[in-house]
Amino acid sequence: MKKIIITLDGYSSCGKSTLAKQLAAELDYVYIDSGAMYRAITLYFIQNRIDWNKPEEVAQALSNIQLEFVYNPLSGSSEMNLNGENVEHMIREMLVAEKVSEVAAVGAVREFAVAQQQEMGKQKGIVMDGRDIGTTVFPHAELKIFMTADTAIRVERRFKELYAKNKNITIHEIKENLELRDYIDTNREISPLRKAEDAIILDNSQLTPEDQLKLVLQWVDDAVMVKS
Ligand code: CDP
Ligand code: CDP
Repeated sequence: MKKIIITLDGYSSCGKSTLAKQLAAELDYVYIDSGAMYRAITLYFIQNRIDWNKPEEVAQALSNIQLEFVYNPLSGSSEMNLNGENVEHMIREMLVAEKVSEVAAVGAVREFAVAQQQEMGKQKGIVMDGRDIGTTVFPHAELKIFMTADTAIRVERRFKELYAKNKNITIHEIKENLELRDYIDTNREISPLRKAEDAIILDNSQLTPEDQLKLVLQWVDDAVMVKS
C-alpha cells in the first residue's frame, strides 16, 4: 500500500494525538507530535529564563536547543527529548501549558520547529498533529483532517487525563487554559490555527476512539487510492 502524509489539526484536547497514535499503529506510520516540540522549547525558555519577546535572546536560545523523538519500548511510543533529556512528562504540566501558546506565536520559534517537521516528512508514511500542519507544514499532504469537539467535552477529557496524575488540578483551571490557548492559537499572526481548504472536518464529540479510527481508516483508503 502506498504511503502518504496525514495531517491532523484542531483545537486543544479534541483527540488529535489519540487518533494519530491509532493511525500510526494501524498503518505502520511514524507519528509526530508537533505540539511536543513547542512544549519542549517553552520548557527550555522557562528553565533558562529566556524572554521570548527579545529576538536576540530567542535566537541564541534556539541555537542551543536540540529536539529529538526517542522511542520508549516501555510506553510503546516516541517521547520528547530536549538536549538529550527525556522531558515527556514535564512538558505536559500546567507550567508549560500556561506559556506554550505565547512562545508558539513567536516567528523564529515557528521557523525553527517547522523546518524540522518538514524534514521529518520527507519519507512519507507520516501522521503529524498540531495546529498548522495542513496549512503550513505540509500544504500538499494527501489527507488532511481538521478535528473538533464541543468545548465542554474537551475540558472534561483533558481534566480526566490530568487529574489522574495530579489531584490538585481543577476543572476551572483546565477550561481557562484550553480557552486561552485556542484564542491565542486562532488569532496569532503567523500560521494561525485554521482549517485548510481541502481538510475534512471530524467532530468527534459523540465518537469513541474506536469509532473515529474506523471512519478515518476509510478516508485513508480513499486518499491512497487517489494517489495510486
Ligand atoms: O495536546 P494539546 O492539544 O493540548 O496541545 P499540543 O498539541 O501539545 O500543543 C500545545 C501548543 O503548542 C498549542 O496550544 C499551540 O500553541 C502550539 N502548537 C502550535 O502552535 N503549532 C503546532 N503545530 C502544534 C502546537
Ligand atoms: O491531542 P489532543 O490534545 O487533541 O487530544 P488527546 O490528548 O488525543 O485526547 C484528549 C483525551 O480525549 C484523551 O484522554 C482521549 O482518550 C480522549 N478522547 C476521547 O475520549 N474520545 C475520542 N474520540 C478521542 C479522544
